[in-house]
Formats: sequence, structure tokens, C-alpha cells
Amino acid sequence: MTKLVNNQAIPAPAAEEDRAGQDHAKAQIARILRVDQAGEFGAQRIYRGQLDMMTDRNGKPRAGLGRTAGLVKHMAEQEDAHLARFNELVAERGVRPTVLGPFWNVAGYALGAVTALMGEKAAMACTAAVEDVIDKHYAAQQATLDRMAKSGVAEPELRAAIDQFRAEEAEHHDTAIDEGAEQATAYPLLSAVIKTASRSAIWLSERF
Ligand SMILES: [Fe+2]
Ligand SMILES: [Fe+2]
Repeated sequence: MTKLVNNQAIPAPAAEEDRAGQDHAKAQIARILRVDQAGEFGAQRIYRGQLDMMTDRNGKPRAGLGRTAGLVKHMAEQEDAHLARFNELVAERGVRPTVLGPFWNVAGYALGAVTALMGEKAAMACTAAVEDVIDKHYAAQQATLDRMAKSGVAEPELRAAIDQFRAEEAEHHDTAIDEGAEQATAYPLLSAVIKTASRSAIWLSERF
């Protein structure tokens, strides 16, 4: 958590940003869209993996898992909407998607499936860890978009998407904590491993 909080308005280094030019801004937006599309795809795959382990072939929750499967299904549907919006924005702007999609497809699903097989609390621990990283990621992007707006590059559509999705990711995180994520076996280790993996995925998807 940052300790650098104060209420003073710090003037943006406007001249510097001006010099950086439009190409720089375009590249920054492309990077944001690329990583967010990848992240929402990964989230969709995680929840799909969890749901598949919590339901039978007909999509009915397994014994005793009705409540948790219902919560996961709700989160999965929101991830579907997040991904659909980033798919639109990526297509509109002609941004190159990450080349790592096939890897996130498998890795996301595996993470969801494995944590769900470990138990409901482990599945929730996975959600809490991933959503915590995503919350900070979206917060950093909001700050970037604020800086860009001050230097004349407004991105209202992207900003609106990030604002809405960040609020929903926070709900996912809080649901997971309420459902006992922190009571999962080896929670600190599980959480740390998943957070590190999530941060690595973000780093890679921004670049590749
Ligand atoms: Fe999402
Ligand atoms: Fe989420």
C-alpha cells in the first residue's frame, strides 16, 4: 500500500508529455487494451475451470456446491461481459492482441480447475488473489489515463470500461473473502503464488 497519499495537486509534466507525442499515447493505449483483453480472457478461463469442476455434465452444481457454483457463475458472466467489451475496443482500435492467448487459455483454466478441486475455500482464495492484483492493475491504469487526459489525450470509453470493471472485480474479491477465502488450507502460500503468477501474466501480456 502506498504511503505517498496527499491532497496536493501536483502539476503534470505537461511539456514532457507533449514532446512524447501522439505515437507514444497510442502505444500506451494499445498496451492497456492488450493486457486488459488478455486479463479478462484469463479471468473468464479461471472461472470456467472452476465452474466445470463444480458442476456435472449437464451444468448442474455437484452435491453441496449449489451456493458456491451460483456465485462463481455470476462472476463468470461478468467476466464474459468484461472480455466482450475489451474485444470490441481492441478491434475498433486495431490493436494487436497478445500472442500469449493460447497459453492463458490453458493456464487460466488449469488454475481455476485445480483450485476448485482443492475445495470451495481454495477456489475463493484464487479469486481473492487474482482480483486483488487486478484491482491494483486497474487503479494504475486509471492513474495513467488521468495523466493522459491532462495532457490532452481523452479516452472516455476506455475509462468508463475500466471504472465499471474495477468496481465489479472489487465485488468479486469481497465475495471471495466473505465466502471464507482466508480459511483455505495454506492460504498465505496459495495467495502469494497466485498473486505472483497474476502479476507475471500482466507483465507478459503488456509486452507480448
Ligand atoms: Fe473482469
Ligand atoms: Fe473479476
